[in-house]
Amino acid sequence: MSAQPGFITFEGVEGSGKSTQLYLLSRAFQAAGAPVQVTREPGGTPLAEKLRALVLADTDGGVDPRCELFLYLAARHDHVTRLVRPALAAGRWVLCDRFADATVAYQGFGRELDPEAVARLAWWGHGLRPELTLLLDLPVADGLARVAARGEANRLDREAEAFHLRVRDGYRQIAKAEPDRVVPIDATDDVATVHARIVDAVRARFGNRLPEGLAPSAEARP
Ligand code: TMP
Repeated sequence: MSAQPGFITFEGVEGSGKSTQLYLLSRAFQAAGAPVQVTREPGGTPLAEKLRALVLADTDGGVDPRCELFLYLAARHDHVTRLVRPALAAGRWVLCDRFADATVAYQGFGRELDPEAVARLAWWGHGLRPELTLLLDLPVADGLARVAARGEANRLDREAEAFHLRVRDGYRQIAKAEPDRVVPIDATDDVATVHARIVDAVRARFGNRLPEGLAPSAEARP
């Protein structure tokens, strides 16, 4: 078992490849014999998955931006207390698809609520900060084209391009403000290349805390 597991989050605009990359990194950890917990936000616990379905569903008359914000926050608190903290305490590495930065980028910048106020709420109370946040960055139009090709767009995916441009800009501002935690990853290349960049970033951040032999997953080969 790793002596001290880490909490790693994946962020990015729609269609940035987070879920694929998170899966590949989890396979790399597993291949090196490290216990790993894969999870996502909103979601990860029974209640948070119900909140996810609510907040991403189309609702007659739309959703008030502050109501949306509080649904994401509610889901986060259940997720952190019931899943993330227990997993870390049990010695598992936690790889999470989105976390508090998504609230700042989407509700603060995308919805144009006050980003500083949203950031205070997004980080308040749960006391958890990822040691490494991988920001998968690519042009909004490219990401939205990938989502359209998948054909599974949700309420937020279908927001206007201007919304997604604000989200990307928000993420970039966060990365600039916290360069020690947030590492931008160029996500425009093929899956294997992006995966190799991510493994490098993980090695650089965690060094000898990582399981011996952590290497890019064989599943990423083209
Ligand atoms: P996903 O598509 O990456 O699974 O994320 C679900 C959607 O929820 C995505 O459009 C981003 C959005 N989101 C927020 O707006 N605020 C948040 O705090 C989180 C975690 C996600």
